[in-house]
Amino acid sequence: MCGIIGYWNKELEAFPILLESLKKLEYRGYDSFGFATSFENKLLTERQVGKVSSAKCPILPGKIGIGHTRWATHGKVTEKNTHPHRDCSGKIAVVHNGIIENFQELKNSLLNKNHNFLSETDTEVISHLIEEKLEQGMNLKDAVIEIGSLLKGRNSFVVLNSETKEIIAFRKGSPLIVGITKENGTSEVFIASDIQAFLDKTKKVMYLDDNQIVIIKENPEFYNVKTKDKIEKRLIKIALDTKDAEKGDYSHYMLKEIMEQKETLAKAINQNDKDLMHVSQEINNARGVFFVGCGTAARVCHTAEYIFSKIADKHVNFIPASEFENYKHFLLPETLVIAVSQSGETADVLEALEIAKQRGSKIISIINTQSSSIDKISDYTFLIKAGPEKAVASTKATTSQIVVLILLAYACAGKLKEGERFLIDVAGKVNDMLNPRYEEHIKKLAEIIYQRENIFIIGRGINYPMALESAIKIMEVSYIHAQGFAGGELKHGPIALIEKATPVIVLVANDDVRQEIISNAIEVKSRGAYVIGVSPENNPIFDYWIKTPDVNGEASSIINLVAVQLLAYYLGILRGHDVDYPRSLAKSVTVK
Ligand code: F6R
Repeated sequence: MCGIIGYWNKELEAFPILLESLKKLEYRGYDSFGFATSFENKLLTERQVGKVSSAKCPILPGKIGIGHTRWATHGKVTEKNTHPHRDCSGKIAVVHNGIIENFQELKNSLLNKNHNFLSETDTEVISHLIEEKLEQGMNLKDAVIEIGSLLKGRNSFVVLNSETKEIIAFRKGSPLIVGITKENGTSEVFIASDIQAFLDKTKKVMYLDDNQIVIIKENPEFYNVKTKDKIEKRLIKIALDTKDAEKGDYSHYMLKEIMEQKETLAKAINQNDKDLMHVSQEINNARGVFFVGCGTAARVCHTAEYIFSKIADKHVNFIPASEFENYKHFLLPETLVIAVSQSGETADVLEALEIAKQRGSKIISIINTQSSSIDKISDYTFLIKAGPEKAVASTKATTSQIVVLILLAYACAGKLKEGERFLIDVAGKVNDMLNPRYEEHIKKLAEIIYQRENIFIIGRGINYPMALESAIKIMEVSYIHAQGFAGGELKHGPIALIEKATPVIVLVANDDVRQEIISNAIEVKSRGAYVIGVSPENNPIFDYWIKTPDVNGEASSIINLVAVQLLAYYLGILRGHDVDYPRSLAKSVTVK
């Protein structure tokens, strides 16, 4: 949430580089954006409301600078609330990601000292606090250490002092990564929320960890905030490819990422068998297994209850990460907490894992982002290897996460090889399913229902959490009110909302609840619903049939979801929305 970039060099103009880098971070928030550079020891800034990718910006001169793309938390979406935020002297600029929980108290004390605040943000206190320290004669490094430690909550920020031409970053909570390139005698140093920001320039990185600062210069210097000791960091060469994060011939990342499921499922299956067996033993021996995640990843965690029950005869629990604290008294050193996350940076998940760590429980994670904060806090990580997911709505990461859950469940049941063979077959069926004719058939359905105000989705068994996930997908990109229900729950209230022609999507599989979900479909049909069957077989009650490959058991969740992802995409397109960047959302939710 919020993208941060900082850039240092001695020869090149910083602004064009900052601009291109910030565009690559747009998925982290796109309410407004801004830049600050140091030119002839003066601070220059440019801030605008809207998306950086579609903006026209005057070029700021200067060789060093910072930038920010905002997802608004404190203060409305206005130019004055846009980062960077300055101090009273006009030489300090700050970009920030997080929420300063004690900002009001800090702001009150600064107001008492006659600091002039220009925004409603929490961030601006950082600029004025640094100003105070510099006025007291402290250097910027010590000021950043002191102020960073004063802020409550998860906060990462980058400070530019235009007068001394220094850039210093502080990290606690959300990620900051340093990138370094030295070519033909020219050194360039980046600091960013995500490697993607500078991946086309360098693959050599150093990770800033929590409670550390880094001075951005030719040879960046890292310090521990608590001990103030200098830290030696390894320069790591990462293996990511920029091509993976580009749209290629697709009009949208979302469509590209849905289509990539032709390959990503097979990549997710390709885990190390020894690791799977080792973790499955941990699961089998644990006193309590809790899956935690947020949003779509939480729906994946919910499927774990069905997957482990059906495949491994094993009871596991699912808890939305934001509710995890309420369950902490169940956590023992023998308890296992399994986090599911695409970004590996979601604040609520991290908080849940910190609680688990304090209670001595073991942590396993199923994530898409190596070296992310969740990766670092975990005792064991499974990477889903889905490649960068740029569209805000998660698609390919979701199905790959389910693949890893199914593999683990088979491993727990002592049938790993059988599980792998089964999933390879499923991956092949998804490959066949995602063809242009299929896409066209789903697009036609979208044309029939895109003007409706409500869409309901029902499922039973593992297709119940998938009904919930389908609703998230449809809502977030089409802004149509969509709600998922367990088929059997419909008549306990929600059926009152079914009117003539209300679309109801029925997720069907050839499993032991098939007949019951068809009965639920008949119930809504008799109230006038327009029944859309997502099913391996047609049925006379379907007004529209989306044929799905017939797969056994829990993998129907993957197949049915892929069909609904495509439908959500076309509903969003037909309603004229920016499906990659839905309003009010951000890809990486690094605030609570
Ligand atoms: C919805 C979506 C979000 C994320 C949630 C968790 O399409 O993508 O609901 O699933 O914000 O994000 P990660 O998986 O990065 O922890």
